[in-house]
Amino acid sequence: MAIIKLHFSAALLVLLLSCPLWQVSQSVPVMSKALMTDSCVLNAHKLLQDITTTLTQLDLFEGIICSEQRVEMNTKTNTASVCAPAESTCSGIVESEFDEGLCLTNITEDLHHYYNLLSTEPDPSGALSKTVLSSLRELMENCFMSPPEEGASNRESTDPFKERLSLCKVLKGFHVRAITINRAISYINSGVHTK
Ligand SMILES: *[C@@H]1O[C@H](CO)[C@@H](O)[C@H](O)[C@H]1NC(C)=O
Repeated sequence: MAIIKLHFSAALLVLLLSCPLWQVSQSVPVMSKALMTDSCVLNAHKLLQDITTTLTQLDLFEGIICSEQRVEMNTKTNTASVCAPAESTCSGIVESEFDEGLCLTNITEDLHHYYNLLSTEPDPSGALSKTVLSSLRELMENCFMSPPEEGASNRESTDPFKERLSLCKVLKGFHVRAITINRAISYINSGVHTK
């Protein structure tokens, strides 16, 4: 009897020990989950903060009330819808699946779009390159393995008022997009969608 008991508890022990392992191997994160590390969450947050701060710099928008301007979005991507968490009911549509790959490629395209736009803006005081552009570049390099193409350089200013107006609208659009990107990166980092 004692021997049976011993066998039984040994078997139970094996089961208990192997069970957590089995669970771990079942939920091995997909590759891109590993990419969206905690430092990517922080990196994306820093980018959002830099955009917010830049939008409040009055000297960049002299003669313009930026808060009253229209938001100009990048219309070439579908980041907001494709990165919506599974089961969300935003705009009444029930997304049953979250396609991490599509979400990440749409974000990558956004990041390049804004990098190209902002890196060619006149930036005499370096206000953009020291903040938004540097945190954007870091996010692209560290978390998307997709550094910006070299070669783009700041234009000479030709029509300062028009350029300030355009910068305002573009930055407002990037601000909205950066909020979506922050949410998506946190969502992927949490691993909820792989469970
Ligand atoms: C963005 O998402 C859409 C789906 O809404 C997809 O068709 C498109 O290929 C994606 N773009 C990129 C660059 O992956």
